[in-house]
Amino acid sequence: MRIASIGGGPAGLYFSILMKRAFPETQITVYERNKHDDTFGFGVVFSDETLGNIENADAESYAAIRRNFAYWGDIETYHAGTCVRSTGHGFCGLARKKLLEIFHERCRALGVKLEFQHEIQDDSELAGNDLILAVDGINSIIRKKYEAHFKPSFDWRKARFCWLGTTLPLSAFTFVFKETQWGLFQVHAYPFEKNLSTWIVECDEGAWRRAGLDRATEKETVAFCERIFAGDLKGHRLIDNRSTWRAFPTIRCERWQHGNVVLMGDAAHTAHFSIGSGTKLAMEDAIALCEAFRSHGTRDVPAVLAAYESARRDEVSRTQHAAQTSLEWFEHSTRYVSQPPLQFTFNLMTRSRRITWDNLGQRDPELVRRVGEWYASENGIPRAPDGSVAPPMFAPLRLRGMQLENRVVVSPMCQYSARDGTPDDWHLVHLGSRAIGGAALVFAEATNVTAEGRITLGCTGMYSEAHVAGWKRVVEFVHGHSRAKIGIQLGHAGRKASCNLPWEGDDPLRDGRAWQTIGPSALPFAPDWHVPREMTRADMQAVQLALANAVRMAERAGFDVVELHMAHGYLFSSFLSPKSNQRTDAYGGSLENRMRFPLEAFAAARAAWPEEKPMFVRISATDWLDDQGGWSVAESVVFARELKRLGCDLVDVSSAGNTPESKPVYGRMYQVPFAEQIRAEAQIPVMAVGGIQSADHVNTILAAGRADLCALARPHLADPYLTRHAAARYGHHDFPWPDPYLLGRPRRS
Ligand SMILES: Cc1cc2nc3c(=O)[nH]c(=O)nc-3n(C[C@H](O)[C@H](O)[C@H](O)COP(=O)(O)OP(=O)(O)OC[C@H]3O[C@@H](n4cnc5c(N)ncnc54)[C@H](O)[C@@H]3O)c2cc1C
Ligand SMILES: Cc1cc2nc3c(=O)[nH]c(=O)nc-3n(C[C@H](O)[C@H](O)[C@H](O)COP(=O)(O)O)c2cc1C
Repeated sequence: MRIASIGGGPAGLYFSILMKRAFPETQITVYERNKHDDTFGFGVVFSDETLGNIENADAESYAAIRRNFAYWGDIETYHAGTCVRSTGHGFCGLARKKLLEIFHERCRALGVKLEFQHEIQDDSELAGNDLILAVDGINSIIRKKYEAHFKPSFDWRKARFCWLGTTLPLSAFTFVFKETQWGLFQVHAYPFEKNLSTWIVECDEGAWRRAGLDRATEKETVAFCERIFAGDLKGHRLIDNRSTWRAFPTIRCERWQHGNVVLMGDAAHTAHFSIGSGTKLAMEDAIALCEAFRSHGTRDVPAVLAAYESARRDEVSRTQHAAQTSLEWFEHSTRYVSQPPLQFTFNLMTRSRRITWDNLGQRDPELVRRVGEWYASENGIPRAPDGSVAPPMFAPLRLRGMQLENRVVVSPMCQYSARDGTPDDWHLVHLGSRAIGGAALVFAEATNVTAEGRITLGCTGMYSEAHVAGWKRVVEFVHGHSRAKIGIQLGHAGRKASCNLPWEGDDPLRDGRAWQTIGPSALPFAPDWHVPREMTRADMQAVQLALANAVRMAERAGFDVVELHMAHGYLFSSFLSPKSNQRTDAYGGSLENRMRFPLEAFAAARAAWPEEKPMFVRISATDWLDDQGGWSVAESVVFARELKRLGCDLVDVSSAGNTPESKPVYGRMYQVPFAEQIRAEAQIPVMAVGGIQSADHVNTILAAGRADLCALARPHLADPYLTRHAAARYGHHDFPWPDPYLLGRPRRS
């Protein structure tokens, strides 16, 4: 078998080593346009986990890496004149030049041919090879040549960064945040050799331009950075090496394989440097490709490449997802710099959502204990008799006259089990058991203010005395037998009304039971859905009146809080989004006009609700349509400010649901960044929801200051006692238990 590698970076060299070891008879040539000792960049960094993979793949190169690396376990964050140190992490750094030397030596020892200063112009020069590695880096010419096939996408970020070195010896991965007259500058630094460290400087585009760095030479850049980081560099110099300012592109390719050509490393995908180097991904690609050859043999190269691609894609996309979350954190770090140093550090550590309260607690129990103590003292968690404090999820919260005992909320969940809109025993047991389960607040499902506003015939309503009586029974049980508060979500399904029950199809009713739906414009939710009737002013006034009536009924039923449902494409949400609202009157067009009806409805509802009781609004923060003209997070911030002005106490931040074209990127805690942005920019309390899978996630979100409450839906279906179980697991033995259950209460040992 003959293999040619276009590029002699980590991906090409490491694959050549592994392949030659596994299949010594293969002939491998690496073509590298640079000289053997050219080097750009400074140190590369690997985590303990990556080191383990490298050790298993080739013990010899691992041993050489080990002999040369700088190892550290701490992360230091310099911010607001303080340094917070976190321990227990485990990384190693190594000069990129040294890494390449190790690989060169190992290639030669194994018989891989290295051709330096040999630039490949076109893969046709390599005809006759059975496998061509397109490992020619971020500007890959092979990816470009076959772009119609590989379908690359380039997400160019706005932040600017510059890769520098320094003689400052560091003993930890180091982050520095420096506020300057031009804006915030941040450093990602780590040691890689005795007395040498990588020092990456990053800032937003505005700061970069204001500081004149868009016109600076490399020497001027060095002088500028030495000046602003003089105190942190402690008299040491910065070193440049092709240290120009760059913007980071996240590159993704729909395909990595074309016949016998395969893209690997930076040519195939990039991951922001803030979660570790692209070198790690490049080497792990090499390991995975060699594994594919080991499993499938060398006869059918395209089949092996296809197997490699399907085995590797998920891991790469997980890493890219974590990198994306991390890079967005750094892009928005100005939001967080006003946080106290401990919280800021916790926020930074948990930015990619891979590290959480629990696993940071295992790595660095002391830091998590300090964050917990701080959060407890700020948020009124009392100290237990043994001196411990419960984690953030057990902090109380007061909103107007409503006192919540902790921060866990049962998210509203339609049960589709009502008859003529009236809740029955199912609702009593469903909500009652979750209230006993320990959540501070349980929300009754999307309850409709008119019969036509129901999503399905099984949806609950709040438009008749029977409804008030049915709900009163549930509320009285919750108040009488638990310490939970109970809220109701009121709404109108708009153009998404008149549907089958989910377990009977979840699509529009097609028989005689169907009814005429209404919406801002006569546009169906999807092509085969009911076409709504465009609402008149009189229709709007009728809905507003029904809403205010429902709010008064909710008060009579005894609810503690009302949440208006302005999310998921239902009536109010469909007014907000330009995708569904194409009116030409005062209720469509500009953002101000699209917000008008939801805001008028909110004001009417607020006026009908007692002053001492809070009112929430659930929104879909985005339509997830990128540049295709849907509702955006920026608009949500404006909307949240307006709601706050009208007396809204909290925004419950969900997303999507307004159009089937939405492309949400699901994942753990995936809507939290929207909640966090609205909290920071509109200065209003928020409830996060979506993919909050556990108490661990709740503690992470709260401690980092990303939300004030956390709503969990599906986890509460699986475990109504989620909060009670969490109290036991975290040793919070003062958590109150209902009298009849006291014998089952865990005790302090
Ligand atoms: C300026 C800069 C500095 C960096 N510094 C660091 C750092 O300090 N630490 C770190 O961890 N990561 C650093 N990175 C990122 C890191 O280099 C990559 O993520 C990683 O090296 C990816 O490995 P690769 O083998 O896929 O690509 P690369 O390392 O980019 O290797 C590709 C190789 O292909 C060669 N090549 C390209 N086209 C041809 C051709 N037509 N013919 C022959 N040869 C060709 C290139 O010269 C290059 O050597 C840096 C990136 C840049 C751009
Ligand atoms: C069975 C079910 C019913 C739901 N009904 C509602 C609802 O009535 N109102 C609402 O705003 N969201 C509703 N949702 C969405 C949830 O409240 C929540 O936002 C979503 O499930 C994401 O949270 P999770 O990842 O914790 O499940 C429902 C979700 C489920 C699973």
